[in-house]
Amino acid sequence: HIPVIRTLGQLRRWRKEARDKGLEVGVVPTMGALHEGHLNLVRTSLSRHPLTVMTLFVNPMQFAPHEDLSSYPRTFDRDLSLLQSTLPTPPSPRQMQSPLIIFAPTPDVMYPLKGELQDLRNHKGVEVDVRGWGEVMEGASRPQFFKGVATVCTKLFNAVEPDHAYFGQKDIQQALLLRILVKDLLLSHPTSSNLHILPTTRSSTGLALSSRNAYLSPAELKVSPVLYDALNAAKGLYESKDTAEGKDITGEDLIAASTRVVLDEQERILSENEGVELQLDYIELFDKDTFEPIRGPIGENREFVIAGAIWVGKTRLIDNLLVGWE
Ligand code: PAJ
Repeated sequence: HIPVIRTLGQLRRWRKEARDKGLEVGVVPTMGALHEGHLNLVRTSLSRHPLTVMTLFVNPMQFAPHEDLSSYPRTFDRDLSLLQSTLPTPPSPRQMQSPLIIFAPTPDVMYPLKGELQDLRNHKGVEVDVRGWGEVMEGASRPQFFKGVATVCTKLFNAVEPDHAYFGQKDIQQALLLRILVKDLLLSHPTSSNLHILPTTRSSTGLALSSRNAYLSPAELKVSPVLYDALNAAKGLYESKDTAEGKDITGEDLIAASTRVVLDEQERILSENEGVELQLDYIELFDKDTFEPIRGPIGENREFVIAGAIWVGKTRLIDNLLVGWE
């Protein structure tokens, strides 16, 4: 039985008890519709800390008006039983406390100022904007997105006061932006070095697991791994060059190699008359520490990310690979 906490008061009492007992707390923020990717984050936190909070909140502020806030999958009962089966062992009677709790607040708990939710583009109240990190890449086409993520994560960090926080590499820009946020706002729960980024969990076809994969038809599901293949083509090209030759390779070269894979797949879909709409949104390289896009010569010992987004029918999928760092 996993305790579900819905109010700030209950959460604060639980947190105080943990602190009084000297027990470390890890947090795994999610929007629910759990899959193996989320479960891996929880398993890691459970294996490292005596107490873990999974937060489950579909955050309205990070959805634009035309996006899928109302249709975003909400599968609370299923999520709960999935988590149940993820627990390594039932809590021991001596411990008295479940190693995992769920914090599933209602919107008015997370946004206590009235009126704010009605008009999120012109709301009164606090908005956290990580300038320079939120407008590029994923933020370029979704101007409100990272402000929504940064604001809700600041609130969740303030509510849970976690010693450690776990995020997925699947959303690499989100995770790196939150590290900047934690550092620049001088947060101590968590510190930026205790904000952990865990590798992307994939299906056997290479497709990165995502709650939005539930929108894909079987035919769409079949072509979706093309994004991972495209990113791998770029990474493979970079790694196949030895250092002398590799110095001259450019970001544009890698973007072109990736794009080629998507174009080839588009041609194949047409010739085999599969009737799936595949569109490239972008492939981009960016520097791990500055988020600057890399188009020219990459040079040596560079730590960067190859990231991309595609549209498969009406569903937008993202993925990325790390190069030169983990
Ligand atoms: P959500 O999309 O539910 O993802 C919750 C966490 O799971 C994020 O850290 C995300 O990167 C991670 N995750 C998703 N798919 C993954 C995969 N295939 N492998 C590894 N990790 C994966 O991201 C959000 O929610 C929200 O923006 C949130 C941070 C909760 C703020 O609202």
